[in-house]
Amino acid sequence: MPSLANDNFINNHTTYSITTSFINQANINQVKFDELNQKAHNNYEEFWGELAHTKISWHKPFTTTLNNTKAPFYKWFEDGVLNVSYNCLDRHLRSKAHKTAIIFEADDGAITKITYQELHTKVCQFANGLKSIGVKSGDRVIVYMNNSIEAIIAMQSIARIGAIHSVVFGGFSSIALADRIIDAKAEYIITVNGYHRGGKLIELKKMVDEALINIDKNIHQIKHTIIHNRTPDLNTKITPHQDIWWNDVVDNQDKECIPEWVTSEHPLFILYTSGSTGKPKGILHTSGGYLLGTIVTMEWVFDYKDTDCYWCTADVGWITGHSYICYGPLAVGATQVIFEGIPTYPSADRFWQMIERHKVTTFYTAPTAIRNLIKLGATLPKNHNLSSLRLLGSVGEPINPEAWKWYYEVVGNSKCPIVDTWWQTETGCNMLSPIPGVQALKPGSCVSPIPGIMAVIIDENGNSIKPGESGYLVITKPFPSQLRTIWNADDKFIKTYYPQDIADGRYYIAGDSAQLDTDGYFWILGRIDDVLNVSGHRLGTMEIESAITMHPSIAEAAVVGKPHAIKGEGIFAFVVCKKDSSIKDLSQDDKTTLTNQINAIISKEIGAIAKIDEIKFVEGLPKTRSGKIMRRLLRNIVRGEEITQDISTLENPAIINTLKL
Ligand code: WT7
Repeated sequence: MPSLANDNFINNHTTYSITTSFINQANINQVKFDELNQKAHNNYEEFWGELAHTKISWHKPFTTTLNNTKAPFYKWFEDGVLNVSYNCLDRHLRSKAHKTAIIFEADDGAITKITYQELHTKVCQFANGLKSIGVKSGDRVIVYMNNSIEAIIAMQSIARIGAIHSVVFGGFSSIALADRIIDAKAEYIITVNGYHRGGKLIELKKMVDEALINIDKNIHQIKHTIIHNRTPDLNTKITPHQDIWWNDVVDNQDKECIPEWVTSEHPLFILYTSGSTGKPKGILHTSGGYLLGTIVTMEWVFDYKDTDCYWCTADVGWITGHSYICYGPLAVGATQVIFEGIPTYPSADRFWQMIERHKVTTFYTAPTAIRNLIKLGATLPKNHNLSSLRLLGSVGEPINPEAWKWYYEVVGNSKCPIVDTWWQTETGCNMLSPIPGVQALKPGSCVSPIPGIMAVIIDENGNSIKPGESGYLVITKPFPSQLRTIWNADDKFIKTYYPQDIADGRYYIAGDSAQLDTDGYFWILGRIDDVLNVSGHRLGTMEIESAITMHPSIAEAAVVGKPHAIKGEGIFAFVVCKKDSSIKDLSQDDKTTLTNQINAIISKEIGAIAKIDEIKFVEGLPKTRSGKIMRRLLRNIVRGEEITQDISTLENPAIINTLKL
């Protein structure tokens, strides 16, 4: 099985126990933890059913917990009726109307605070505004915005009226945006004219206009684009009748909006993510089960307390921003920081300043950010009072033990547990993570499945692997927060997540390989498919390859991940030029020009996050006789690993020597 070797796995067994003072205040202690696990094992449905009854405010409670008659199209709490936005806002109004819901810090440092009452009013007005322009339950609405209070208002308002949002990360290009609009058949777009990130102006409304030019009006028509006027001095192009300013949408709208009561399986959102194929997949999440997953993990994993000041540094365009900015924290009534900018602007201590300024207690970020901050100023946290911190989190990729130790010692002052949370766009919420008041930590391990998640590591035949061996990470039972399908692609959903060739299609296949150590701790090794994890962002090799081959001089390309000190994985491309521009004739300058042109195409087709880090121009790619590119061989080459695989089945074995770096 191919794996991203985690060199520290075999040797690193250093454990960090949790401080007594943390244990004493934790939501979940050993007794509670054992009870939860026992209940989940003995009576799985009752376990989730009870949680769903107590943690969610139902308009009409459900009577069936799990319907698995059409497996793997599972239905949770099917006859229950609720509204997710009601659960995030209205239900807090009695006891915490005046509690701060969001502390927004803009790129330039300006701070805006909003209480639950104020957020409720704004969501109601915007929701009424959406209805007034024709948005109905079930309609798809694209949100293409900066991290902001308005992005949260947009998402919550869409949920409130039973429509379905599809947030597109602001770093994606207009072409990537157009693809998503068309696939989701979205008729409305909510965007922003422009905003600053790291001091740089980003004009999203222009990108929307570009995307719409690319969409054939005979195939699909957008009804309205709503624009938040974030940067009033911009000259924003407005197309009459089609474009509407945010302020005009909310103007004179009623401050109350009765939520659309929907059944538990009503779609909440579609979020596109990369897979092995050329086109991103629309991951569909529904209402009750997803909401429950975000709530229990806020309580168990993030040990949420009413007095916390919580900060997740993700972007709302990714699943982390959905579950741990827009939904989870609001559903539990937290005060949270939302940040528009980047960790290193205007200076490399921006994160530490912000933690100090807002007295952040719970801080959730990505290993790539941590590594970058170490590089830019490993001692900077020491200049700030970070004593408010009590819990740290990590997400997106395996965290290397060096970064873990720095995070633990320098940021957390050796007193804050680190929850290394493994999960995916598809799982909706944390799946593997230490429960911080209970389990000792090992740098680089996400420890074990949380209560109620039946994760195991198996071989192809479905047998559990022994400690030290690697296998497929799978979830053996359906769980409430899991994706329900791929939008418009039920067959692909089954083939991708319940493939017949692994354990006869009985289990949810995560797409990661993993190992257990002798203490039963889980270690994620990396993806088993052609998916890269660059700075915690998921990118499909085929998407990048098809962008590269759009260059008129390029015949073929193969992309693989190469370990990268900051990004985790960097993108390495092997590129074959067309016959008339053979590499023998290419000068160094030609190669540089080609590389720049290729990166420009990638930025246009996907976004700057997918730009390649290294390129090698080659005469041909290693292929099987049936024409399949042997990416595994290329992976060995870029990692400087020995090629152990039998290459005699290659169509062109001699090519190997020409590929070496
Ligand atoms: C893939 C999912 C979950 C939100 C961010 C990414 C990798 C995620 C960890 C972790 C090791 C991790 C996996 C997974 N991954 N968290 N704590 N340790 N690997 O969401 O874009 O859906 O990517 O990210 O490979 O399959 P995503």
